[in-house]
Amino acid sequence: MWLCPLALTLILMAASGAACEVKDVCVGSPGIPGTPGSHGLPGRDGRDGVKGDPGPPGPMGPPGDMQCPSGNDGLPGAPGVPGECGEKGEPGERGPPGDDPEVSYTGVMGVRQTLQVPQGLQGSIMTIGEKIFSTNGQSVTFDAIQEACARAGGRIAVPRSPEENEAIASFVKKYNTYAYVGLTEGPRPGDFRYSDGTPVNYTNWYPGEPAGRGKEQCVEMYTDGQWNDRNCLQYRLTICEF
Ligand SMILES: *[C@@H]1O[C@H](CO)[C@@H](O)[C@H](O)[C@H]1NC(C)=O
Repeated sequence: MWLCPLALTLILMAASGAACEVKDVCVGSPGIPGTPGSHGLPGRDGRDGVKGDPGPPGPMGPPGDMQCPSGNDGLPGAPGVPGECGEKGEPGERGPPGDDPEVSYTGVMGVRQTLQVPQGLQGSIMTIGEKIFSTNGQSVTFDAIQEACARAGGRIAVPRSPEENEAIASFVKKYNTYAYVGLTEGPRPGDFRYSDGTPVNYTNWYPGEPAGRGKEQCVEMYTDGQWNDRNCLQYRLTICEF
């Protein structure tokens, strides 16, 4: 909008002596445009843009000079193949003769007797009445026990009373190994006998035993002293009686 220049208004007032009617109708030519204003201050930072895609991996760096500590040992390898057998060594010198220990016991008619316990059967010895029980601590089959006891001048132990059973059971417990006792099954299943044929007058079967029905012809003693019929090829503690 063009404004009345003040000078023109004053001239009109002076010339007519009347109040100047200020009108919005003005005349004049447009002025020269001003010089452009200076640049405004920089605007505020915009909000963060969305994350870009990861860039390609950079080139490998030069080797560092940090010394790494060595790692833990690996798992052990598989065992190697066994080596060849060595030469048989020379036999050692014979040791001094051992003293066969003596065991004394009450023999027939109350006579006190002593017995030399053979070498190899000195592991444990116990006398019950007239009987001597002995073990060498070895576990072998029934036949091998019979042979070992016969070689030593005795026979495989067989308990014929609760006291004898207890004595044999104490060896079984001490060696923590079941023992065979000297009873075997005859041709009739369940019919167990002593090797000398005398009638069986004491048994201590585990409840339900013998249950082998003729298939288990030997008798083993458990650590609690009870008996079970068993095949004769197990490895059982050698206990002899004399
Ligand atoms: C069985 O007989 C033997 C030998 O005659 C004897 O020593 C033993 O005490 C008897 N056992 C029982 C329980 O009677």
